[in-house]
Amino acid sequence: MLERAPSQVKQILVTGGAGFIGSNFIDLVLESNHGVSVVCLDSLSYAGNVVNLESAVKHPNFAFVKADLCDGDGLGSALDPFDFDWVFHFAAETHVDRSIHEPKITVMTNVIGTLNLLEYFRGHWLNEDQCHKRLVHISTDEVYGSIQDGLFSETSRYKPSSPYSASKAGSDHLVTAYFTTFGLPTLTTWCTNNYGPRQHPEKLIPLMTIHALEGKPLPVYGDGLQVRDWLHVHDHAAGVWQTALRGKVGEGYCFSGGLESTVTNLDVVNQILGAVSAHLKVEKSELDGLITHVEDRLGHDRRYALDSRKAAAELGWTPKVPFQSGFAKTVEWYLNNPEWMREVQGTDYKDWLSRNYSQPKGGHQ
Ligand code: NAD
Ligand code: TYD
Repeated sequence: MLERAPSQVKQILVTGGAGFIGSNFIDLVLESNHGVSVVCLDSLSYAGNVVNLESAVKHPNFAFVKADLCDGDGLGSALDPFDFDWVFHFAAETHVDRSIHEPKITVMTNVIGTLNLLEYFRGHWLNEDQCHKRLVHISTDEVYGSIQDGLFSETSRYKPSSPYSASKAGSDHLVTAYFTTFGLPTLTTWCTNNYGPRQHPEKLIPLMTIHALEGKPLPVYGDGLQVRDWLHVHDHAAGVWQTALRGKVGEGYCFSGGLESTVTNLDVVNQILGAVSAHLKVEKSELDGLITHVEDRLGHDRRYALDSRKAAAELGWTPKVPFQSGFAKTVEWYLNNPEWMREVQGTDYKDWLSRNYSQPKGGHQ
């Protein structure tokens, strides 16, 4: 359950709500049942699917608007019928590997799309009483780049490695600039890798689960010893909500799983194999041979880790879902939802697998 919003908050906008984190966030807001009405704006790119909004569409306080953030005029007509108090900007092109194949698509949505959203609210909010208005921009730990030891925090220097993280960094700077220059009430959140239900099967956990289930090779990039600081999507959603509720306008907050960053990709893959072998009632050793080390991702960040002490102190946020149980339930969810898995793969998925996994990556490494 999320905490109650102030009484002036009647309508919120969630961009990218047909994707992984946005749809989980919307469900939590609607389940918390505070009477706040929720509008989801999404272009339904390959990564967005209305199947992710299956519960939300049945709720009387929910509306869906299909629009592309890159189309500034279309965005205006889509949003004009509403009067938003809080905005949560999740929409983005989010896959690092796709950003390596097609940087321009990523940059267009993440930078120009964000700019269009900021421009819209600059036009609409600045002449209004805006003391309770908030625009929360959802960013990523990837803007700080890789860290060998220790933790990055809100004041760390940006050093993005991929076109994805560079474009998120660009969007973060625009968001801060709109606060500094125009006084738009923006806040930014940075989060470590999320896990949970409904993540697109191009990403590590669902991809490895479906491959293991189907007896296909599990493509581990490089030595597989890269480290991610996994956070359950519900904990991230709560952090984003608490940022709007208690965060200081113009500032930002880091959210991490607090795993002290010791979980390698190979650990994750082995845990998935444990769960899939139990599901198939076979010995894990029968599936271990599926692990296949493939050419590394270009510019691959070795380790991510964030310090969430500011979020704990100022927002009262701490992660609630323990990694072991949250992770086990997540893999179980993918195993028990084959129809969802088929539905979200869409027509482009096979093509994506062959583009990303069958061709040499090139680059300078
Ligand atoms: P996702 O790829 O699952 O969903 C992105 C959504 O944005 C999709 O529904 C897609 O249709 C929509 N979208 C894409 N381009 C659009 C456009 N031009 N106009 C309108 N909608 C568009 O992503 P996610 O994993 O849910 O990530 C959500 C946000 O959280 C992103 O901003 C991402 O950078 C950030 N984030 C993600 C993680 C993670 O582990 N997944 C971690 C930290 C931060
Ligand atoms: P991913 O889910 O793409 O998230 P991110 O790149 O934002 O961290 O990948 C998580 C980790 O898993 C990352 O180190 C790359 C690695 N990975 C593989 O080894 N093989 C794969 O097929 C994929 C998709 C990812």
